[in-house]
Amino acid sequence: MTTAILSALPEEQSSLVQHLAHPQRLMHAGRAFWLGDLNGRRVVLALSGIGKVAAATTATALVEQFRVARIVFTGVAGGVGDGVNVGDVVVAQDYLQHDMDASPLFPRWEVPGYSRSRWACDATLSALLLEAASACVSSASGQFGLKSEGLSTVEGAVHRAHHGLVASGDRFVSAADEAHRLRSALRDAGHNVLAVEMEGAAVAQVCHDYGIPFAAARTISDRADDTAHVDFPLFVQTVASRYAEHMVLAFLQKL
Ligand code: ADE
Repeated sequence: MTTAILSALPEEQSSLVQHLAHPQRLMHAGRAFWLGDLNGRRVVLALSGIGKVAAATTATALVEQFRVARIVFTGVAGGVGDGVNVGDVVVAQDYLQHDMDASPLFPRWEVPGYSRSRWACDATLSALLLEAASACVSSASGQFGLKSEGLSTVEGAVHRAHHGLVASGDRFVSAADEAHRLRSALRDAGHNVLAVEMEGAAVAQVCHDYGIPFAAARTISDRADDTAHVDFPLFVQTVASRYAEHMVLAFLQKL
């Protein structure tokens, strides 16, 4: 049984590649896939690419070409929910595409042909990922020194692992008023979104189509506000890979 570990960015994947036993690099659909063993589990590591289409192609290749049994995504996201701060982790309970709008033909956010706007993640995998994320943020509060890296977070902050709705769209949200509008519109329709990113909902839809369990953990790199463009690259360079490494290794141990 092979588990796919998807990362959005090379920085998030690099330390996992270094931990691989018996690594083998294969090219498919213009992408590199790393096969090997991680903590005694058979895995394939892949980069999703950025945006929903790239992520859907990678997810489809993982299913069709590498016959993976499950897909787990670790990456970063912008926090938009109350109390979802830089250095926290959001484990997705379900996903929605915040830029899907075929109204008035279909209700806003509904994906035509599926009669739904939300895509649930696998409950069992998500529970394991949440345990791994909680352990990771506890050690992050003491170890990772986010403030000393210049990130917009509070000195000595206690980081949290959250579980809830994540929204994906082909847009880097980098203005407080845009984040506020997006969140309020969704909340008025009963969708309480905790974080935004650019790939997860696409992978969730592909996994739904193939009947493959999917789970995702997103570390909060920025607040999707006017400093997001500063916090995001800083976080990706300094902290993201340490979070990804901790969470994935702990998760695989629990599997
Ligand atoms: N990934 C990390 N931060 C993000 C943001 N602010 N918008 C979209 N995707 C992100």
